[in-house]
Amino acid sequence: MLAFRSSTARLLSAGPLLTAFVACLLLVGCGNADSTNIADSMNTLVGHSDLTKNILDIYGTIFWIDTFLFILVQGVLIYAVLKFRARGDEKTLPEQVHGNLQMELGWTIAPVFILMLIAIPTVSFIFESQAPAGKDAIVVNATGKQWWFKFGYPGYGFETANELHVPAGRQVDLRLQSDNVIHAFWAPQLTAKRDMMPGRVNHITFTADRAGTYLGQCAEYCQDSHALMKFRVVVDSLEDFEKWAAHQKEGVPEAEAKSAGFEAFQGATCVACHAISGTSAQAAIGPNLTHVGSRTHIAAGVLENNEANLRAWLKNPDAVKPGSKMPNLNLSDEQITTLVSYLQSLK
Ligand code: CUA
Repeated sequence: MLAFRSSTARLLSAGPLLTAFVACLLLVGCGNADSTNIADSMNTLVGHSDLTKNILDIYGTIFWIDTFLFILVQGVLIYAVLKFRARGDEKTLPEQVHGNLQMELGWTIAPVFILMLIAIPTVSFIFESQAPAGKDAIVVNATGKQWWFKFGYPGYGFETANELHVPAGRQVDLRLQSDNVIHAFWAPQLTAKRDMMPGRVNHITFTADRAGTYLGQCAEYCQDSHALMKFRVVVDSLEDFEKWAAHQKEGVPEAEAKSAGFEAFQGATCVACHAISGTSAQAAIGPNLTHVGSRTHIAAGVLENNEANLRAWLKNPDAVKPGSKMPNLNLSDEQITTLVSYLQSLK
Protein backbone atom coordinates (compact mmCIF):
# COMPACT_ATOMS: atom_id res chain seq x y z
CA MET A 1 0.00 0.00 0.00
CA LEU A 2 2.84 2.30 1.00
CA ALA A 3 4.71 1.50 -2.22
CA PHE A 4 1.57 2.24 -4.23
CA ARG A 5 1.13 5.60 -2.47
CA SER A 6 4.70 6.68 -3.06
CA SER A 7 4.61 5.77 -6.76
CA THR A 8 1.28 7.66 -7.12
CA ALA A 9 2.82 10.67 -5.39
CA ARG A 10 5.81 10.49 -7.74
CA LEU A 11 3.49 10.33 -10.73
CA LEU A 12 1.49 13.32 -9.46
CA SER A 13 4.60 15.36 -8.86
CA ALA A 14 5.73 14.55 -12.42
CA GLY A 15 2.37 15.82 -13.75
CA PRO A 16 3.28 19.53 -14.14
CA LEU A 17 6.65 18.55 -15.64
CA LEU A 18 4.94 16.28 -18.14
CA THR A 19 2.42 19.03 -19.02
CA ALA A 20 5.27 21.51 -19.60
CA PHE A 21 7.08 18.98 -21.80
CA VAL A 22 3.98 18.33 -23.93
CA ALA A 23 3.31 22.11 -24.18
CA CYS A 24 6.90 22.60 -25.43
CA LEU A 25 6.40 19.90 -28.06
CA LEU A 26 3.18 21.57 -29.20
CA LEU A 27 4.88 24.96 -29.42
CA VAL A 28 7.72 23.48 -31.45
CA GLY A 29 5.06 22.08 -33.79
CA CYS A 30 3.77 25.66 -34.34
CA GLY A 31 7.06 26.94 -35.67
CA ASN A 32 7.02 25.36 -39.11
CA ALA A 33 8.98 27.82 -41.25
CA ASP A 34 8.07 26.19 -44.57
CA SER A 35 4.38 25.77 -43.93
CA THR A 36 2.09 27.10 -46.62
CA ASN A 37 -0.98 26.68 -44.44
CA ILE A 38 -2.55 30.13 -44.31
CA ALA A 39 -3.50 29.79 -40.61
CA ASP A 40 0.20 29.22 -39.79
CA SER A 41 0.99 32.67 -41.16
CA MET A 42 -0.26 34.17 -37.87
CA ASN A 43 2.64 32.40 -36.10
CA THR A 44 4.98 35.12 -34.84
CA LEU A 45 7.91 32.69 -34.41
CA VAL A 46 8.48 32.57 -38.17
CA GLY A 47 9.59 35.56 -40.26
CA HIS A 48 9.28 35.97 -44.01
CA SER A 49 10.67 39.48 -44.44
CA ASP A 50 13.83 41.35 -43.50
CA LEU A 51 11.76 43.21 -40.91
CA THR A 52 10.32 40.18 -39.11
CA LYS A 53 13.66 38.35 -39.23
CA ASN A 54 15.27 41.29 -37.45
CA ILE A 55 12.50 41.23 -34.87
CA LEU A 56 13.09 37.50 -34.34
CA ASP A 57 16.83 38.15 -33.90
CA ILE A 58 16.08 40.61 -31.10
CA TYR A 59 13.55 38.19 -29.67
CA GLY A 60 16.17 35.42 -29.77
CA THR A 61 18.78 37.60 -28.04
CA ILE A 62 16.33 38.47 -25.26
CA PHE A 63 15.27 34.83 -24.95
CA TRP A 64 18.87 33.64 -24.42
CA ILE A 65 19.66 36.45 -21.98
CA ASP A 66 16.53 35.45 -20.02
CA THR A 67 17.45 31.76 -20.17
CA PHE A 68 20.94 32.50 -18.82
CA LEU A 69 19.48 34.63 -16.00
CA PHE A 70 16.87 32.01 -15.16
CA ILE A 71 19.49 29.28 -14.85
CA LEU A 72 21.77 31.59 -12.83
CA VAL A 73 19.04 32.66 -10.37
CA GLN A 74 17.62 29.14 -9.98
CA GLY A 75 21.14 27.74 -9.58
CA VAL A 76 21.99 30.19 -6.79
CA LEU A 77 18.62 29.54 -5.16
CA ILE A 78 19.03 25.74 -5.22
CA TYR A 79 22.63 26.06 -3.97
CA ALA A 80 21.49 28.28 -1.06
CA VAL A 81 18.60 25.98 -0.14
CA LEU A 82 20.87 22.94 -0.06
CA LYS A 83 23.88 24.57 1.60
CA PHE A 84 21.99 26.40 4.32
CA ARG A 85 19.30 23.81 5.07
CA ALA A 86 18.65 22.81 8.66
CA ARG A 87 20.69 19.76 9.57
CA GLY A 88 19.67 17.08 12.06
CA ASP A 89 17.78 18.53 14.99
CA GLU A 90 19.33 22.00 14.65
CA LYS A 91 17.03 24.36 16.55
CA THR A 92 18.97 27.64 16.62
CA LEU A 93 18.61 30.22 13.87
CA PRO A 94 21.67 31.04 11.75
CA GLU A 95 23.31 34.45 12.13
CA GLN A 96 20.74 37.10 11.11
CA VAL A 97 22.09 39.74 8.68
CA HIS A 98 20.41 43.05 8.06
CA GLY A 99 21.37 45.15 5.04
CA ASN A 100 24.33 44.73 2.69
CA LEU A 101 25.25 47.85 0.73
CA GLN A 102 27.35 46.04 -1.87
CA MET A 103 24.64 43.50 -2.67
CA GLU A 104 21.91 46.14 -2.78
CA LEU A 105 23.96 48.25 -5.19
CA GLY A 106 24.65 45.13 -7.25
CA TRP A 107 21.03 44.07 -7.68
CA THR A 108 20.01 47.64 -8.50
CA ILE A 109 22.71 48.25 -11.12
CA ALA A 110 22.69 44.79 -12.75
CA PRO A 111 19.02 45.03 -13.89
CA VAL A 112 19.77 48.47 -15.39
CA PHE A 113 22.44 46.84 -17.59
CA ILE A 114 20.14 43.96 -18.47
CA LEU A 115 17.34 46.38 -19.46
CA MET A 116 19.84 48.35 -21.55
CA LEU A 117 20.83 45.13 -23.37
CA ILE A 118 17.16 44.73 -24.29
CA ALA A 119 16.26 48.40 -24.88
CA ILE A 120 19.17 49.43 -27.14
CA PRO A 121 18.56 46.92 -29.98
CA THR A 122 14.77 47.22 -29.61
CA VAL A 123 14.54 51.02 -29.75
CA SER A 124 17.16 51.38 -32.47
CA PHE A 125 15.30 48.79 -34.57
CA ILE A 126 12.00 50.67 -34.17
CA PHE A 127 13.68 53.68 -35.80
CA GLU A 128 15.36 51.51 -38.46
CA SER A 129 12.01 49.97 -39.45
CA GLN A 130 10.68 53.37 -40.46
CA ALA A 131 13.78 54.71 -42.19
CA PRO A 132 13.16 56.26 -45.63
CA ALA A 133 12.61 53.55 -48.25
CA GLY A 134 14.89 52.99 -51.25
CA LYS A 135 14.16 54.68 -54.58
CA ASP A 136 12.72 51.57 -56.27
CA ALA A 137 10.46 50.66 -53.35
CA ILE A 138 6.81 50.02 -54.14
CA VAL A 139 4.74 52.64 -52.35
CA VAL A 140 1.39 51.57 -50.93
CA ASN A 141 -0.97 53.96 -49.16
CA ALA A 142 -2.74 51.75 -46.63
CA THR A 143 -5.78 53.30 -44.98
CA GLY A 144 -7.68 51.77 -42.07
CA LYS A 145 -11.46 51.99 -42.43
CA GLN A 146 -14.29 50.70 -40.26
CA TRP A 147 -13.82 47.73 -40.87
CA TRP A 148 -11.67 47.10 -43.90
CA PHE A 149 -8.37 48.16 -45.46
CA LYS A 150 -7.94 50.40 -48.48
CA PHE A 151 -4.72 49.89 -50.48
CA GLY A 152 -3.72 52.58 -52.98
CA TYR A 153 -0.76 52.18 -55.36
CA PRO A 154 0.15 55.76 -56.36
CA GLY A 155 2.99 54.56 -58.61
CA TYR A 156 0.52 52.50 -60.64
CA GLY A 157 -2.61 54.63 -60.32
CA PHE A 158 -5.18 52.22 -58.86
CA GLU A 159 -6.84 51.29 -55.61
CA THR A 160 -7.92 47.96 -54.16
CA ALA A 161 -9.19 46.63 -50.85
CA ASN A 162 -8.32 43.99 -48.26
CA GLU A 163 -5.90 42.02 -50.45
CA LEU A 164 -2.51 43.64 -50.61
CA HIS A 165 -0.27 42.32 -53.38
CA VAL A 166 3.50 42.88 -53.20
CA PRO A 167 6.41 41.30 -55.06
CA ALA A 168 8.96 39.08 -53.28
CA GLY A 169 12.47 40.50 -53.09
CA ARG A 170 11.40 44.11 -53.62
CA GLN A 171 11.13 46.68 -50.85
CA VAL A 172 7.61 47.86 -49.97
CA ASP A 173 7.04 51.30 -48.47
CA LEU A 174 3.77 51.19 -46.55
CA ARG A 175 2.29 54.57 -45.62
CA LEU A 176 -0.19 53.86 -42.90
CA GLN A 177 -3.06 56.23 -42.24
CA SER A 178 -6.67 56.52 -41.12
CA ASP A 179 -9.48 59.02 -41.62
CA ASN A 180 -11.58 57.73 -38.73
CA VAL A 181 -10.44 56.00 -35.52
CA ILE A 182 -7.04 54.42 -34.77
CA HIS A 183 -6.38 51.02 -36.35
CA ALA A 184 -3.14 49.02 -36.51
CA PHE A 185 -1.65 47.18 -39.46
CA TRP A 186 -0.21 43.79 -38.61
CA ALA A 187 0.78 40.86 -40.83
CA PRO A 188 2.76 38.83 -38.25
CA GLN A 189 5.23 37.16 -40.63
CA LEU A 190 5.90 40.26 -42.75
CA THR A 191 5.56 43.41 -40.65
CA ALA A 192 5.60 44.67 -37.10
CA LYS A 193 2.40 46.08 -35.62
CA ARG A 194 2.06 49.75 -36.45
CA ASP A 195 -0.78 52.18 -35.82
CA MET A 196 -2.87 53.76 -38.56
CA MET A 197 -3.80 57.13 -37.11
CA PRO A 198 -5.95 60.03 -38.24
CA GLY A 199 -3.90 63.14 -39.09
CA ARG A 200 -0.57 61.32 -39.30
CA VAL A 201 1.22 59.04 -41.73
CA ASN A 202 3.18 56.19 -40.11
CA HIS A 203 5.74 54.31 -42.16
CA ILE A 204 6.83 50.73 -42.32
CA THR A 205 9.18 49.24 -44.88
CA PHE A 206 9.77 45.55 -45.53
CA THR A 207 10.98 43.14 -48.20
CA ALA A 208 9.22 39.76 -48.36
CA ASP A 209 11.54 36.82 -48.97
CA ARG A 210 9.25 34.37 -50.78
CA ALA A 211 5.93 34.12 -52.58
CA GLY A 212 2.91 33.07 -50.55
CA THR A 213 -0.26 34.34 -48.92
CA TYR A 214 -0.09 35.77 -45.43
CA LEU A 215 -2.86 36.72 -43.03
CA GLY A 216 -3.11 40.11 -41.38
CA GLN A 217 -5.39 41.59 -38.76
CA CYS A 218 -6.18 45.02 -37.34
CA ALA A 219 -4.34 45.09 -34.02
CA GLU A 220 -5.89 48.14 -32.36
CA TYR A 221 -9.41 48.03 -30.95
CA CYS A 222 -11.54 50.09 -33.35
CA GLN A 223 -15.10 49.37 -32.16
CA ASP A 224 -17.77 46.83 -33.16
CA SER A 225 -16.13 44.72 -35.86
CA HIS A 226 -12.47 45.16 -34.90
CA ALA A 227 -12.01 41.38 -34.66
CA LEU A 228 -13.49 41.02 -38.17
CA MET A 229 -11.08 43.52 -39.74
CA LYS A 230 -8.69 41.21 -41.54
CA PHE A 231 -6.61 41.33 -44.68
CA ARG A 232 -4.34 39.17 -46.78
CA VAL A 233 -0.92 39.95 -48.14
CA VAL A 234 -0.28 38.08 -51.39
CA VAL A 235 3.44 37.99 -52.11
CA ASP A 236 3.92 37.33 -55.84
CA SER A 237 6.99 36.88 -58.00
CA LEU A 238 7.96 40.24 -59.54
CA GLU A 239 6.58 39.11 -62.90
CA ASP A 240 3.21 38.03 -61.45
CA PHE A 241 3.00 41.23 -59.45
CA GLU A 242 3.52 43.40 -62.53
CA LYS A 243 0.83 41.39 -64.37
CA TRP A 244 -1.57 41.77 -61.45
CA ALA A 245 -0.89 45.52 -61.19
CA ALA A 246 -1.40 46.05 -64.92
CA HIS A 247 -4.71 44.21 -64.73
CA GLN A 248 -5.85 46.17 -61.64
CA LYS A 249 -5.16 49.39 -63.45
CA GLU A 250 -7.49 48.44 -66.28
CA GLY A 251 -11.10 49.38 -65.70
CA VAL A 252 -13.92 47.02 -66.59
CA PRO A 253 -14.61 46.69 -70.36
CA GLU A 254 -17.00 49.23 -71.82
CA ALA A 255 -19.71 46.65 -72.49
CA GLU A 256 -19.70 45.82 -68.76
CA ALA A 257 -20.51 49.43 -67.92
CA LYS A 258 -23.74 49.15 -69.89
CA SER A 259 -24.72 45.66 -68.73
CA ALA A 260 -27.91 44.73 -66.86
CA GLY A 261 -25.66 43.92 -63.89
CA PHE A 262 -24.34 47.46 -63.75
CA GLU A 263 -27.86 48.82 -64.06
CA ALA A 264 -28.86 46.75 -61.03
CA PHE A 265 -25.74 48.10 -59.26
CA GLN A 266 -26.90 51.64 -60.00
CA GLY A 267 -30.55 50.88 -59.22
CA ALA A 268 -29.69 49.45 -55.80
CA THR A 269 -27.72 52.66 -54.99
CA CYS A 270 -24.41 50.73 -54.60
CA VAL A 271 -22.90 53.55 -56.69
CA ALA A 272 -23.37 55.95 -53.79
CA CYS A 273 -20.48 54.29 -51.93
CA HIS A 274 -18.43 52.15 -54.33
CA ALA A 275 -16.27 52.72 -57.38
CA ILE A 276 -15.90 50.45 -60.42
CA SER A 277 -13.34 51.97 -62.69
CA GLY A 278 -14.42 52.20 -66.33
CA THR A 279 -18.00 52.98 -65.25
CA SER A 280 -19.78 56.02 -63.81
CA ALA A 281 -19.48 54.50 -60.30
CA GLN A 282 -16.74 56.60 -58.69
CA ALA A 283 -17.62 56.91 -54.99
CA ALA A 284 -14.90 56.29 -52.43
CA ILE A 285 -16.82 55.53 -49.23
CA GLY A 286 -16.75 51.73 -49.44
CA PRO A 287 -14.15 49.41 -50.99
CA ASN A 288 -13.29 49.83 -54.67
CA LEU A 289 -15.02 46.93 -56.46
CA THR A 290 -13.32 47.13 -59.89
CA HIS A 291 -11.92 43.58 -59.67
CA VAL A 292 -13.87 42.28 -56.68
CA GLY A 293 -14.60 38.98 -58.47
CA SER A 294 -10.89 38.15 -58.44
CA ARG A 295 -10.49 38.60 -54.67
CA THR A 296 -10.48 35.42 -52.63
CA HIS A 297 -12.50 36.91 -49.77
CA ILE A 298 -15.16 39.53 -49.10
CA ALA A 299 -16.07 41.70 -46.10
CA ALA A 300 -12.39 42.27 -45.18
CA GLY A 301 -11.18 38.69 -45.15
CA VAL A 302 -14.14 37.37 -43.17
CA LEU A 303 -15.96 35.33 -45.83
CA GLU A 304 -14.77 33.31 -48.78
CA ASN A 305 -15.78 35.02 -52.01
CA ASN A 306 -18.51 32.70 -53.27
CA GLU A 307 -22.13 32.98 -54.29
CA ALA A 308 -23.70 31.92 -50.98
CA ASN A 309 -21.53 34.30 -48.95
CA LEU A 310 -22.07 37.23 -51.31
CA ARG A 311 -25.82 36.62 -51.04
CA ALA A 312 -25.65 36.57 -47.24
CA TRP A 313 -23.58 39.77 -47.22
CA LEU A 314 -25.91 41.67 -49.56
CA LYS A 315 -29.00 40.40 -47.72
CA ASN A 316 -27.88 41.72 -44.34
CA PRO A 317 -24.34 43.09 -43.91
CA ASP A 318 -24.87 43.72 -40.20
CA ALA A 319 -25.48 40.02 -39.56
CA VAL A 320 -22.03 39.22 -41.02
CA LYS A 321 -20.26 42.20 -39.55
CA PRO A 322 -21.86 43.89 -36.54
CA GLY A 323 -21.99 47.66 -36.91
CA SER A 324 -21.23 47.45 -40.64
CA LYS A 325 -21.30 50.82 -42.37
CA MET A 326 -22.85 49.09 -45.39
CA PRO A 327 -26.60 49.47 -44.86
CA ASN A 328 -29.18 46.76 -45.34
CA LEU A 329 -30.70 47.92 -48.63
CA ASN A 330 -33.66 45.51 -48.32
CA LEU A 331 -32.80 44.04 -51.72
CA SER A 332 -35.18 41.56 -53.28
CA ASP A 333 -33.93 38.02 -54.00
CA GLU A 334 -34.02 38.86 -57.70
CA GLN A 335 -31.86 41.98 -57.21
CA ILE A 336 -29.40 39.97 -55.10
CA THR A 337 -29.12 37.27 -57.80
CA THR A 338 -28.34 39.88 -60.47
CA LEU A 339 -25.87 41.72 -58.24
CA VAL A 340 -24.06 38.56 -57.16
CA SER A 341 -23.48 37.39 -60.71
CA TYR A 342 -22.41 40.91 -61.71
CA LEU A 343 -19.91 41.23 -58.84
CA GLN A 344 -18.54 37.74 -59.53
CA SER A 345 -18.01 38.69 -63.17
CA LEU A 346 -15.70 41.57 -62.18
CA LYS A 347 -12.54 39.51 -62.34
CU1 CUA B 1 -9.42 48.42 -37.10
CU2 CUA B 1 -9.29 47.27 -35.02
